[in-house]
Amino acid sequence: MHHSIAPSMLSANFSNLEKDIELVNSSEANLFHLDIMDGVFVPNISYGFPVVKAIASKAKKPLDAHLMIVDPDRYLENFAQLGVNYLSVHYEACTHLHRTIQKIKSLGMKAGVALNPHTPVETLTDILSETDFILIMSVNPGFGGQSFIENSYSKIKRLKKMIEQRSLNTLIEVDGGVNKENAPLLFKSGANILVAGNSVFASSDPAKAITQLKNAL
Ligand code: DX5
Ligand code: ZN
Repeated sequence: MHHSIAPSMLSANFSNLEKDIELVNSSEANLFHLDIMDGVFVPNISYGFPVVKAIASKAKKPLDAHLMIVDPDRYLENFAQLGVNYLSVHYEACTHLHRTIQKIKSLGMKAGVALNPHTPVETLTDILSETDFILIMSVNPGFGGQSFIENSYSKIKRLKKMIEQRSLNTLIEVDGGVNKENAPLLFKSGANILVAGNSVFASSDPAKAITQLKNAL
């Protein structure tokens, strides 16, 4: 069973980013989750290439970039060049999703599709076999520190069934409002990777919070 934790750097301290990067490096976390927001697809702007480059230069674990931007095709090469390993685009932001997924894979990255809370997992029927992972948004994208949407459990379970019925290797990543209380049921429902921002970085002991999430089940 593949259980990974991806701390979201959106909740890190940007005035002392190196400290939080080292914290993740020396923790039991598996990935760095990087939230890219354009102020159009989501009502917030986060950070862009210079910050991703700075994180990449210090990170000792793979980078998982979550693009909350319209027309992500424009920037796929940039993320590959910066050393991103896992790249997810939103289903709701891609008119030619199949082409986008093929492009991400041809650039040597793992390709993921992110779904907003209202988008049913069943809509993935004809793209699932092409993906390396699916990112289930368990809050409306745009901000850290929001509360978990309970319907996400049902989406994870239905997606897990679709993956198993077709004997695929697609991983399920869950993002938004993840904490040590809901992590056990998320893993039990079929999640493979949990993203956590606030519950890690607002904790008095972030490394311990990561360990607790990782061993939640
Ligand atoms: C939300 C982002 C998340 C966010 C998670 O739009 O995609 O990755 O940073 O933060 P928490 O864990 O605080 O909900
Ligand atoms: Zn995210």
